[in-house]
Amino acid sequence: MADLDDIRDGDNFGLNTPADTSAFYLKGMNHTDWGIKNRMSRIFNRKSGRTVMLAFDHGFLMGPTSGLERIDINIAPLAEHADCLMGCRGSIRSCIPPENTKPICLRTDTGTTILTEMNHNVLLSEEQAISMNPAAMAAMISVGDAATEASTIANFSRLVDIGNKYSIPVMGVTAVGKDMARDARYFSLASRVCAENGASIVKTYYTEGFENVVACTPVPVVIAGGKKLPELEALELAYNAIQCGASGVDMGRNVFQSEAPLAMIKAVAGVVHDGLTPKEGFELYEEVKNSQG
Ligand code: R5P
Repeated sequence: MADLDDIRDGDNFGLNTPADTSAFYLKGMNHTDWGIKNRMSRIFNRKSGRTVMLAFDHGFLMGPTSGLERIDINIAPLAEHADCLMGCRGSIRSCIPPENTKPICLRTDTGTTILTEMNHNVLLSEEQAISMNPAAMAAMISVGDAATEASTIANFSRLVDIGNKYSIPVMGVTAVGKDMARDARYFSLASRVCAENGASIVKTYYTEGFENVVACTPVPVVIAGGKKLPELEALELAYNAIQCGASGVDMGRNVFQSEAPLAMIKAVAGVVHDGLTPKEGFELYEEVKNSQG
């Protein structure tokens, strides 16, 4: 019991300072609760409103693909330059030091690999996912693939239920159905399906007409980098996506398969956060690369 003597009435009510009723800085998040907003704020830079997520979840599908042979050597040193790390529980546990303070976007669906029919995925258990202390959780939906569309959307929807229970944002990852055209119409549909099912972030691919994909998706959209491109082209991809309203990138191969991954992630961050043009980003890439000797 607190000491009841000398209880002082408050007299500093800040009457000249109205309560802050300004909107939350990220698209579509105004009506989410404190926990979701707090976690989104760890992922998306408060000043730019954008994020550079580093994706290294490829191994559960592809095994030790180029640039991910040793996550402890290839990825861990890049962590401090990313805004968020996206990976699977196994590689995060074994290769990312637990002292890491960067937010984790945990890949929570797993299933088949490139050796068979992909995308027959299930979700990790709720307890396992929560034990990784994720700032966000990600699962893929396979829109347009008759064999896996329903099960992946069901997984996704269940993951959003779990996310909402603990106030953890869920990122929807749009896979490309085998027979689908990689165009704005398809990615608009797939992105919108993620958002309608409760995604707080949508990860999709850049394409011509991308401004429509972003406009019809009521939450922040980030792009995957896709296959490795020459560095300048990858920076152009990021730049074009940002110009169309994307809220950042969740890039993998174009960073960790670069000749100079550290220089590349810094250049991508320059484009995403600091408004560098692709040319300026490339100059930064060259400068950092050359300074590494
Ligand atoms: C898709 O299911 C995964 O998140 C991929 O690992 C990710 O999209 C790959 O990133 P990137 O295409 O930039 O290598």
